[in-house]
Amino acid sequence: MTAILIREANAEDAATLAVLHGASFQPAWDEASMAGLLGKNATAALATQDGKAVGFALSRIAVDEAELISIAVSPMARNQGLGRALLSALCAHLKECGVHTLFLEVASDNAAAVHLYESFGFSRLGLRKKYYANGADALTYSLTLG
Ligand SMILES: CC(C)(COP(=O)(O)OP(=O)(O)OC[C@H]1O[C@@H](n2cnc3c(N)ncnc32)[C@H](O)[C@@H]1OP(=O)(O)O)[C@@H](O)C(=O)NCCC(=O)NCCS
Repeated sequence: MTAILIREANAEDAATLAVLHGASFQPAWDEASMAGLLGKNATAALATQDGKAVGFALSRIAVDEAELISIAVSPMARNQGLGRALLSALCAHLKECGVHTLFLEVASDNAAAVHLYESFGFSRLGLRKKYYANGADALTYSLTLG
């Protein structure tokens, strides 16, 4: 049986998060960058499957608002509900921290992520034309946490 655990990440997880980030994004954020992000009003959820790190969701808090800075699941572990579980854990923690609204932006051609966010309940706010370096548009979303 597969044992999935989601826990809050801390500064000691910076290297693990950097590896997970590098498996999903180019350019990857290195350990020092990740440690810097984790130190600045951040909160992150880390998922492990049978003891192996397989995904994370990282957000930054500003009073009662937060931004989803990054979410990634290892390619081999996708489409098993881990992304949704990471978002759920992160939102529950943000709510405990007094956050009311979570914002994010995503490339409009990232079908899996767009599907995940919309089915999770995020509302589309707008479109930023050619926002990314490769010319892709960004969609912006928000979720009221209550
Ligand atoms: C986005 C990401 C985190 C989702 O993680 P995940 O563990 O696969 O997510 P889940 O399994 O919880 O849910 C994925 C959903 O997308 C759907 N999906 C997968 N590929 C899809 C595609 N090409 N088009 C539309 N929907 C798709 C799945 O069916 C699932 O929906 P369901 O729960 O309604 O069946 C993962 O794809 C990832 O790490 N991508 C690379 C990094 C990234 O793009 N991050 C987001 C940047 S904003």
